[in-house]
Amino acid sequence: MPSMRDSDPQVAEIIQSEQRRQQETLEMIASENHASPAVLAAMGTVLTDKYAEGYPGRRYYCGNANMDSVEQLAIDRACKLFGAERANVQPHCGTSANLAVYLAALEVGQKIMGMNLAHGGHLSHGMHINISGKLYQIVSYGVREDTERLDMDQVRELALRERPNLIIVGASAYPRKLDFAAFGEIARESGAMLLADIAHIAGLVVAGAHDDPVPHCEFVTTTTHKTLRGPRGGLVLCRGNWAKKIDSAVFPGIQGGPIMQNIAAKAVCFGEAMRPEFKSYAKAILSNAQALAAELLAKGWRLVSGGTENHLMLIDLRSRLPEVTGRDAALWLEQAGIVVNWNAIPFDPRPPMKSSGLRIGTPALTTRGMGATEMKQVADWIDAALMSGGDAAALGRIRKSVSELCGRFPLPA
Ligand SMILES: Cc1ncc(COP(=O)(O)O)c(C=O)c1O
Repeated sequence: MPSMRDSDPQVAEIIQSEQRRQQETLEMIASENHASPAVLAAMGTVLTDKYAEGYPGRRYYCGNANMDSVEQLAIDRACKLFGAERANVQPHCGTSANLAVYLAALEVGQKIMGMNLAHGGHLSHGMHINISGKLYQIVSYGVREDTERLDMDQVRELALRERPNLIIVGASAYPRKLDFAAFGEIARESGAMLLADIAHIAGLVVAGAHDDPVPHCEFVTTTTHKTLRGPRGGLVLCRGNWAKKIDSAVFPGIQGGPIMQNIAAKAVCFGEAMRPEFKSYAKAILSNAQALAAELLAKGWRLVSGGTENHLMLIDLRSRLPEVTGRDAALWLEQAGIVVNWNAIPFDPRPPMKSSGLRIGTPALTTRGMGATEMKQVADWIDAALMSGGDAAALGRIRKSVSELCGRFPLPA
């Protein structure tokens, strides 16, 4: 930053302002986290200067000995961390990782069965305006209306009726555990391949705090920047027999040169996730989510599916504020220094840009070292901010308290 302050004070000021915002607010967007100084450092290096199209030992440019070393290290660590046969660390993001699997495994026009976006799925699993929805036939499974959970009998029935070529298990807003073994059986029975997209829960999976999809799937994709707490990016894991097809689907199929500084940062992140401290971190994410959910339930907020078994929960605002949209509620919380996103809840009568829910996660607060005491405090503030009806003075008072708490829990440094 010191050199940037001289060469480009405008950009430096914006970055510093973001640093202040993150320090002074509670980051509760379930897909976000605070990366370590080592991950950040790897991204700000001369590796950005290098073109390294191809793969270790098979590049299209000279001067890649160091790129080979760092990419091979990232690949080896990814395989070890996840217990996977093969890894491709080049996808620029989670959506690219999924697209690479489709390109490797499917012909255009074949059938994908994924979770309904409106029930917590991801847009790259077949949304009609995403490339996945344009190139492939899509059938969606969802949660039951009464339990708001996946019903594996319903999933099985749909798979046997529709005979998809690829089934995807994975979600962006589902607070319950995913039964990878059951999905594996259904995929085998219906003649489909199975992709587990663990973008949200990868950090929980590697720490043993969520079931492991690797033994049950041909493919596993993830982002590296959510619970895994690494740089922004994607990753594909696969069985050995798929490695060649996945590699050529990523490059030259959907991408050009890899982002080498992020691949170095992925290697750092995988190294961090192998340490015993990371197991404790993942456990603490879960216990914080449990504590927060219990407090919110005690205050009368209904949580989708009745609670959480992972790092996130969805508040159904209609339980106490039937007139207030998720969007308005999220903007009130932001004024109070609590950053969340509005989110559709299953069978939501409101459109996605308004919605009736709030998605709340604990990974970033847990990174800052917060625990059960802080979760109770945060639940009190969430409740007070929502029940204030958007009163600016009340939200300002909460914001001051939030900022004081944040002062005691600095960002990783
Ligand atoms: C389940 C799931 N898959 C894929 C992605 C896509 O990740 P990215 O935003 O890096 O493309 C997300 C991101 O939210 C996700 O939740």
